[in-house]
Amino acid sequence: NYTMGSQAFEAAWTAACKVEASTVLLPPELEFVVGPISFSGPNCKPNIIFQLDGTISAKTGARAWGSGLLQWLEFTKLNGISIQGSGVINGQGKEWWTYSDSNDDDDDTDSYTDQELEKMPQIKPTALRFYGSSNVRVTGISIINSPQCHLKFDSCQGVMVHNLTISSPENSPNTDGIHLQNSKDVSIHHTDLACGDDCISIQTGCSDVNIHNVNCGPGHGISIGGLGRYNTKACVSNITVRDVNMFKTMTGVRIKTWQGGSGLVQGIRFSNIHMSEVQTPIMIDQFYCDKTSCTNQSSAVAVSGVQYENIRGTFTFKPAHFACSDSSPCSEITLTGIQLRPLTVPQYHICSSPFCWQAFGELYTPTIPPISCLQLGKPAGNRVLSDHDQC
Ligand SMILES: *[C@@H]1O[C@H](CO)[C@@H](O)[C@H](O)[C@H]1NC(C)=O
Ligand SMILES: *[C@@H]1O[C@H](CO)[C@@H](O)[C@H](O)[C@H]1NC(C)=O
Ligand SMILES: *[C@@H]1O[C@H](CO)[C@@H](O)[C@H](O)[C@H]1NC(C)=O
Repeated sequence: NYTMGSQAFEAAWTAACKVEASTVLLPPELEFVVGPISFSGPNCKPNIIFQLDGTISAKTGARAWGSGLLQWLEFTKLNGISIQGSGVINGQGKEWWTYSDSNDDDDDTDSYTDQELEKMPQIKPTALRFYGSSNVRVTGISIINSPQCHLKFDSCQGVMVHNLTISSPENSPNTDGIHLQNSKDVSIHHTDLACGDDCISIQTGCSDVNIHNVNCGPGHGISIGGLGRYNTKACVSNITVRDVNMFKTMTGVRIKTWQGGSGLVQGIRFSNIHMSEVQTPIMIDQFYCDKTSCTNQSSAVAVSGVQYENIRGTFTFKPAHFACSDSSPCSEITLTGIQLRPLTVPQYHICSSPFCWQAFGELYTPTIPPISCLQLGKPAGNRVLSDHDQC
């Protein structure tokens, strides 16, 4: 192996940018060790291909990172960009995770001095981020050990991710697999995700997202939200998650919103999900809070139209948890073919009954266990969605 730095990389990009459908080759025998790079393309020709068969590794040590950056490798304002191949993007996150977890007495860090560990900036980068781009494809590659989120799409239109592997340890903090925000027409399939936070996280402004044939675990499952933090308005619609295996995740399929928000989550379908040893397979939480308590507020991001079908397997804490807001009950929750069986593990006090609060909808078939706490029909008063909820 011989290594190349950021300058060679940037020179290759400058050349590729000038030619439509050009290819940047990173052959298998090469390792590039680079600091933060932005491949910015408002003036680039369309349809550039990154053929990544080698390895791109992040620089370690605090010096390369200044006071901290939100991303390591960034592609912005491109029309038609593909990253493909059998190569690896290695975020070398270990020293960042150690920084944020002072109780970690893992003694496998002797290649870094204590001083270097202390100096890692508090803002941790996403490994690979696409911003403001259209027709983005990421296929074949592996993205491993990101300091924080592995792959992020923000304000993109037309995203295709398949045959991808994402991997970081279960105990690596905030290492989401794929994070989507303000992005439309997204397809993610035939992908393996194992990480320390959400396998896939879908944030405000996303619609027409189709996720299928994905393995998730360990990790926190596939989540929509947290939405509506700091009283913001959030809109998420037309999301399908189907043919997914979850293994030893914290939650399975989850919608989480903060109190005080507005907007609407609608048109959500979770279908053919196999759960193995998942703590809580099904969850809607309109009281999401990352501290012990958050201020009670009456407004909420509304949740309406969530289909759960053929969700089967084992849970270790609670089968289903629907905690909806008094002012904005969850509506049109439908359940079909739910079969979730408790699996006793030493760590958890198992609670075999589902929980519901202000959750309304229909049971199309009997469920295992019975989810009799779901209130059939529409919320009393049939609150009409107001302007506040319109998206
Ligand atoms: C998936 O990616 C690997 C390289 O990581 C490649 O060898 C394989 O052919 C790809 N499979 C499909 C179905 O595209
Ligand atoms: C969601 O899907 C419905 C039905 O296919 C469609 O009418 C609606 O425009 C879609 N919403 C968005 C925001 O794409
Ligand atoms: C918020 O509301 C819940 C449920 O009504 C109540 O148990 C809790 O004490 C309230 N918390 C605060 C901080 O007011």
